[in-house]
This record gives sequence, C-alpha cells and structure tokens, in this order.
Amino acid sequence: MTPAAAGSPRRTRPGRMRRVRRVGQVRAAVAAWRSRGESVGFVPTMGAIHPGHLSLIERARGTDDRVVASIFVNPLQFGPGEDFRSYPRPVVRDRRMLAAAGTDLLWEPEVRDVYPPGDRTRVRVEGLSEGLEGASRPGHFEGVATVVLRLLHVVQPDTLWLGQKDAQQARILEQMVRDLHVPVRVRRAPTARESDGLARSSRNAYLDATQRAQAVALARGLAAARSALAGGEHSAERLRRAIRAVWRSFPAVREDYVAVVDADTLEPVTRVRGRVLVAVAARVGRARLIDNFEWRPA
Ligand code: PAF
Repeated sequence: MTPAAAGSPRRTRPGRMRRVRRVGQVRAAVAAWRSRGESVGFVPTMGAIHPGHLSLIERARGTDDRVVASIFVNPLQFGPGEDFRSYPRPVVRDRRMLAAAGTDLLWEPEVRDVYPPGDRTRVRVEGLSEGLEGASRPGHFEGVATVVLRLLHVVQPDTLWLGQKDAQQARILEQMVRDLHVPVRVRRAPTARESDGLARSSRNAYLDATQRAQAVALARGLAAARSALAGGEHSAERLRRAIRAVWRSFPAVREDYVAVVDADTLEPVTRVRGRVLVAVAARVGRARLIDNFEWRPA
C-alpha cells in the first residue's frame, strides 16, 4: 500500500463518481489507481448520508489521492427488534451527496457480496465490545467488526476514516486492525454537530419537532460534564450526576447509560486520572441517540 503523507494535498481532482456493486469491480478500480502510485482513503457508511459523513469524505480527500465510500446497511450489526428494516435508505440523495463531496468510487454491495452464501466467519474484539453500546446491543460490535474487516480486505485502503461520535466502534476497530495486522491507518474525525450541539446521526431522522428539541439534552449534559472537568472535578459519580441534572429538564429523554470510562480500555473509572471517554446514550421517541467526548487531564 502507498502510505500517503497525512495532511498532504490530494494530487488528483475529483472526477465523476463511479458506482459499483461487485468485489471484483472495487478491486480492479483500486488496482488501477495503485498502479499509478495513488493512495486510497476509505469511508464506510450505512447510507442516510449527513454532514458528519461528508466531513469524513472531506478529510479523506485531504489525506489520500482517491476516496472510496461504501453504503451497506449491514444486517449483522442489528439485533432482533432493532431498526434494520426501517433504517433510512435515501439512496439517490446519498449518491448525489457523496458525488458532490468528491467521492471517486461508491461501493454499494448486496448482502451476498459481503457475506457469500455459506459464510461462517465472524470477528469479535473481546473486552471492548461488551460494555456501553454492547450492553444494550448484544452482538452489535461483532457485526461491525466482521463487516468492516471484510470491507477493508476488499478496498485495501491506506486510511480508514471513522467518526468520534461512535467512539466505542472506533476503539474496537483500531484494536482489530492492530491485532490482525491489517495494513491500514485508522483516523478519527471529530463529531459533526447541528448548530445547537446535537450530534449528527442518521437516526436523528426519526425525531419529530418536539423530540428534536429534547434531543439537545445529550450535548447539553455532556457540556455540563465538560465544564465540571475543566473546573477540576475528578469524581466520575459527580460527572454523571451533572449530566443527569441537565436531563431532568428534558422529560422525553430516557437514559440508557451515562458513563465515564478509560478511553483505551473502555472500563469504568471512579476518578478521572488519565484520558477518559464520557459517553451517553438515551432514547428520545423511537430514536436511540449516543454522544460522547474525550477528556485528557492537563
Ligand atoms: O458507523 C457505521 O455507519 C457502521 O457501523 C459501519 C462502520 C459503516 C459498519 O457497518
């Protein structure tokens, strides 16, 4: 693989985006670029593209010569009773947005392209997958790790771009890449937010106007924890209380978890001594929303 210098300007101009479905087509396109010495950045998505995804495409354009995006609503990462069937699939709009953002190749596999008939292989990253999201969504991260490893094997990018909003997912995939010697650099982009602070998410589409107004509680609660940390607070319990105090003014917000964990091990901490992840999840209407921030003591 061609290591692109991080932050170096892209050498190629974005042209017309190509759309492909089959593994062989992705491999052929990437091989052609590689034969010209061009590097490749990769942004995997499940579609329902929003400005958070577009910021990943923009970053990928800044570090690599070519940008591949995928749209695949991965059945393996949805539990029974979750929103696999109703997950938004605005395909035409997604394609338009990804093309306008400068994606060179959009891979839209079908289930059989990713999971060939008779497929039996799964990837589990132990110790990082069971808490936080994993506690509410058993099997979710096995689905995520399994699909992302497959996508990486096909695209073989130089850089994999992930969003900080899904911090646990990013941490798990970083670990997987390290453990399995996958030759790719993993980069996280900051969470993209609406003007009032709500983290951009495909699931925000489930919110009606009243719920949308309540959903800002997640970002507001985190802001309260952040200012407590900045004011010298070290107690995880008091940080959790600060978040819950904010949430009391938002009756439609139903807590799933409010957690302060070590940013590497994702184990709960009682005192903030090193780098921590403050992470929250809540239901607002039928949307299950997550948000977080990382904090490193000065
Ligand atoms: O974050 C997502 O959209 C998905 O979990 C991912 C990484 C595309 C895998 O399906």
